[in-house]
Amino acid sequence: MSSAAAKTPATKPKRSRGPLLLALLAAVVALATVGVAALLISIFEHKQEGRTPFVRLVDVKETSTDPVPWGINWPSQFDSYRRTVDDEETERGGSSAMPASKLDEHPWLKRLYAGYAFSIDYREARGHAYMLYDQEVTDRVTQRPQSGACLHCHASIIPTYRRLGLEAEGKEADAETLANDFNWPAVMEGFKLASAMEYSAAHNELLKTPDGTPGEKNPLFPGGNTPNTPANPPASEGKPSDGEDDVGTGEEAAGKVDEHHLGDAHPVACIDCHDPKTMELRITRPGFINGIAALAESDDPVPHMPSVERWRKGNRQRPYDPNVDASRQEKRSFVCGQCHVEYYCGPKETLFFPWQNGLKIEQIEKTYDGHKFPDGEPFYDFVHGETGAHVYKAQHPEFEMWSQGIHARSGVSCADCHMPYQREGAMKVSSHWVRSPLLNTNNACQTCHNVPEEELRDKVATIQGRTTAQIERAAVALTDMLDAIRDAEAAGATEEELGLIFELQKKAAWRLDFVSSENSKGFHADQEAMRILGESIDYSRQAEAAALRLRAPKAPESTREVVPVEGVTPARKN
Ligand code: HEC
Ligand code: HEC
Ligand code: HEC
Ligand code: HEC
Ligand code: HEC
Repeated sequence: MSSAAAKTPATKPKRSRGPLLLALLAAVVALATVGVAALLISIFEHKQEGRTPFVRLVDVKETSTDPVPWGINWPSQFDSYRRTVDDEETERGGSSAMPASKLDEHPWLKRLYAGYAFSIDYREARGHAYMLYDQEVTDRVTQRPQSGACLHCHASIIPTYRRLGLEAEGKEADAETLANDFNWPAVMEGFKLASAMEYSAAHNELLKTPDGTPGEKNPLFPGGNTPNTPANPPASEGKPSDGEDDVGTGEEAAGKVDEHHLGDAHPVACIDCHDPKTMELRITRPGFINGIAALAESDDPVPHMPSVERWRKGNRQRPYDPNVDASRQEKRSFVCGQCHVEYYCGPKETLFFPWQNGLKIEQIEKTYDGHKFPDGEPFYDFVHGETGAHVYKAQHPEFEMWSQGIHARSGVSCADCHMPYQREGAMKVSSHWVRSPLLNTNNACQTCHNVPEEELRDKVATIQGRTTAQIERAAVALTDMLDAIRDAEAAGATEEELGLIFELQKKAAWRLDFVSSENSKGFHADQEAMRILGESIDYSRQAEAAALRLRAPKAPESTREVVPVEGVTPARKN
């Protein structure tokens, strides 16, 4: 035995050590087996959790914008989704109590937006349940003309786009056709058509599209189906009628509206983020599809979007498509990026997300600076009411700011914080009560940060406090600048002299607006917010100084001698 073992030591070492080694091997194998089994169980569980099994009791289709039938299949998600009508912070429960006015809280906003509809009504955001209603009743819509593109992010509008697109191509657009196929080309076509309509006309189109619950006319959430409201007026009122939709007023009007009324209008619903066949996450908004494809074409590094980086290295024969290329984790942010972004939405051009140079503020600015409207006029959002400068309006760049922050860089998605998992018995369910994570730090933050709740809240409060203080400082610089520019104009400054100052005003206002309109008050990317505000203050003060210089008499040359270099504080006063 021992000699044989000596001859072939390499192949038979175990034999020589006999039982000891065998036992060891057995132990290792056993451990490994347990390990593999544990891993398999964990993967299995994970999959189970990711894909909680469901029984489909009701069929939902591409026209199912009404979330109620979905609720029968997925009651947990539906219940939390419904809770977006609740408002814990202020206990506002009803639909008519409007959120606080930002204009009253921050009077300088009226000067920032002078001459623009935002200066008449601008409020805090609230739960998703209200998005359609709040848009219908804002003075910005009821007192100023707005475009159909506004509905891109405030209504469950995709089937309406599809219907308009099909009709424009002269194709069949009955309930069955609409329900069976997403049809991207038709959706893109309808998107363009609806964006070009007046707000009320596009809103009326929503009601002419089936919503999956024929005959049922009590939408789950406020807003949507009320005829003859400012948002949804009879076609004969206020503007020339095209005849066909002339529904008159009063009872007669209600009857005629009913005739056209195939479905209710709904705020963001299940179908806006999920494929009804598979329940996979799906991007449905044309604005995002076009915007992210343009971003992919740029060379702005986006390490937090690995699929974009991958597409760039490929053959680029087709545009980047988030529904084909993106990972599930990326889609957990992309579904929110369909709306929580900077955009242009006016009468002169189809709604777009300005990402062709990248997502950072100066890259977006570069896109706007280089952009021309289809009629050839250089791009701008509005003429500033106090100075006449052509300036930009920032919207709610949550997606762009998050992109610059530490969480995006660490692979943390919007849904990780705003739709955290919560346990329901053996299942983990994504909370569809989309809201401030501070109302839910246990599920939203503590899954990753093993620190007490108080500490997390303090950290957020510190960031938000610093950002808010810097916003107020930038606002003082902005109003000082506006005063100085008006004084210079009054003193007879020429248009040419003011030209450069207007450029500075535009840069300063755009930067302040970008951070103050972003809804996390700095949290999504704290250093980036401070950087931008620092630049805003600098541009405001540069513009102010330039405006003051226009009025100041020329200074004589200074004759003061420069003090010679000393080693330390001089001992004697001289
Ligand atoms: C690209 C998506 C998008 C488009 C297009 C859009 N919105 Fe919004 N809107 C949002 C998001 C996201 C919020 C919530 C964040 C916030 O309030 O800053 C919001 C909030 C609002 C609010 C509530 C807060 C406030 O500002 O008073 C109103 C009203 C509103 N939008 C009206 C409009 C109008 C009018 C238009 C068309 C000019 C429009 N929206 C176009 C995404 C959009
Ligand atoms: C704003 C986008 C959005 C809307 C609207 C939305 N969901 Fe989701 N939903 C998500 C995200 C994000 C996830 C997490 C998916 C993942 O990680 O794969 C999710 C997950 C789910 C899941 C998988 C199980 C789970 O809980 O993670 C179900 C089922 C579901 N949603 C049902 C619904 C239903 C029903 C509605 C309408 C009442 C709805 N969703 C509306 C974004 C949305
Ligand atoms: C279809 C457009 C759309 C999509 C998609 C969307 N939002 Fe919103 N969101 C809005 C609008 C509009 C409001 C403001 C509603 C209002 O004030 O009436 C809002 C409000 C919010 C609020 C404020 C809620 C509160 O209680 O104050 C949060 C937080 C939020 N959204 C996060 C998200 C996240 C996270 C996602 C992705 C999972 C997402 N949203 C997807 C349009 C959208
Ligand atoms: C790491 C966690 C985290 C991630 C990731 C994150 N947020 Fe937030 N978000 C917060 C916190 C914290 C606040 C501040 C809430 C407050 O002040 O009550 C906030 C605020 C907001 C608000 C304003 C909420 C309100 O009550 O008015 C919106 C809207 C929002 N986030 C959307 C997004 C979107 C869209 C994304 C992804 C592009 C995103 N967030 C990613 C943590 C996160
Ligand atoms: C999915 C995991 C995850 C979630 C959820 C999450 N974070 Fe984070 N957070 C991280 C990672 C990873 C970092 C990067 C820094 C690090 O490695 O610690 C980070 C960084 C931070 C930082 C900066 C730390 C520093 O010292 O610079 C703060 C503050 C923070 N998170 C707060 C929060 C809050 C508040 C929430 C809930 C609203 C939250 N996080 C949710 C993973 C997460």
